[in-house]
Amino acid sequence: MEVLKSKTLKISEEKDLLNIRGLIREYAGEIGLPEIYKVKLLTATSEIARNVLKYAVSGRMTIRILSDIYKGIEVICEDNGKGIADVDSAMKKGFSTSGSLGLGLPGAKSLVHVFHIDSKLSVGTRVRLIVWRK
Ligand SMILES: Nc1ncnc2c1ncn2[C@@H]1O[C@H](COP(=O)(O)OP(=O)(O)O)[C@@H](O)[C@H]1O
Ligand SMILES: [Mg+2]
Repeated sequence: MEVLKSKTLKISEEKDLLNIRGLIREYAGEIGLPEIYKVKLLTATSEIARNVLKYAVSGRMTIRILSDIYKGIEVICEDNGKGIADVDSAMKKGFSTSGSLGLGLPGAKSLVHVFHIDSKLSVGTRVRLIVWRK
């Protein structure tokens, strides 16, 4: 697998989400990602980035164009926030520690081809996802 492009953007305020969405649109355009996959990727990425602002305060997102059998877009989101005590519970629909809908993580997972989450209490959270242009 080859990385054709890679850029890391900070997440510390609402307007960073616009930059992230812009870069994803740009990369999606470059690999000719169909509109439906682009929307799914933007939705999943926005949920993950929003969680950083809400629960971890700040973090960063690396967005890459991958080339393998297919081309694809990979998003790696990392923060040094408080982490998630129980990742299995956090991945279930309706689980929220803030009284909101609890659909962000399970929803994001269902929208992409590859979804990994690692989290360690008081260390931080890392989410990696890929959408392939099949
Ligand atoms: N980056 C993160 N850092 C710490 N906790 C997180 C992070 N992302 C998600 N969580 C935890 O996982 C829970 C579920 O997240 P999510 O599915 O997006 O639902 P919601 O944001 O509506 O609560 C959150 O309520 C929060 O406790
Ligand atoms: Mg959320």
